[in-house]
Amino acid sequence: MSVVAIDGPSGVGKSSTAKEVARRLGYQYLDTGAMYRAMAWLCLNRGVTDPVDVLEQVRGADLEISLSPDEFFVSVDDIDVTEEIRGEEVSANVQTVSGVIDAREELIEMQRAYITAAPEGIVVEGRDITTVVAPDADVRILMTARDEVRVARRAKEVHGNADAEAIAATQDLVTGRDAKDSATTSFLEAADGVFTLDTSDIDFDQVVETVLQLVKDSQ
Ligand code: C5P
Repeated sequence: MSVVAIDGPSGVGKSSTAKEVARRLGYQYLDTGAMYRAMAWLCLNRGVTDPVDVLEQVRGADLEISLSPDEFFVSVDDIDVTEEIRGEEVSANVQTVSGVIDAREELIEMQRAYITAAPEGIVVEGRDITTVVAPDADVRILMTARDEVRVARRAKEVHGNADAEAIAATQDLVTGRDAKDSATTSFLEAADGVFTLDTSDIDFDQVVETVLQLVKDSQ
């Protein structure tokens, strides 16, 4: 059983890379950001912001997430939130959950259970996978890209283009979230033994090939 851990800031292409690598290797895929997003959706829905109440919601929620790179879904208490969790409201409020250490512990425990139970292997992506969730992973990668590259990628995803207006609308969402996230998780610098993969000037296929090669080298 092989574990591939991928961390990085928003807009760096972690999800598409992790999914494609999982597909190519026949591994499971775990999007830990989707878990934080689903819990943030729940808290928003219930008007919960106090950390003690957030923890209670996270403890009481029935969170289900697909581990298949081909059919992705997330549900909370049997409500499918796959689409809603990608919205701007959840993105802007996700730290209501991810900033609460005890709530993180709950989700980290679930993440470790998924990793342990993976039959062939699993590709796990997030912010603290290489350092906290799976520091013993077979392959540990920090994906990076220059700020302007990440903002342009996210602008294309959200607005369909990267013109000046789309860039202006996306800038704070990307770099602002990273600044807040780095208060709780350390993903801007690679920890010891973590491979830094700068994706600024290489295309998607090259990124995937590099990760596949690292997996091969680890076996
Ligand atoms: O990766 P994604 O952008 O979907 O993550 C959403 C949010 O979830 C991040 O901005 C961060 O606050 C939180 N997160 C985290 N630790 C992880 C994954 C995501 O704190 N391992």
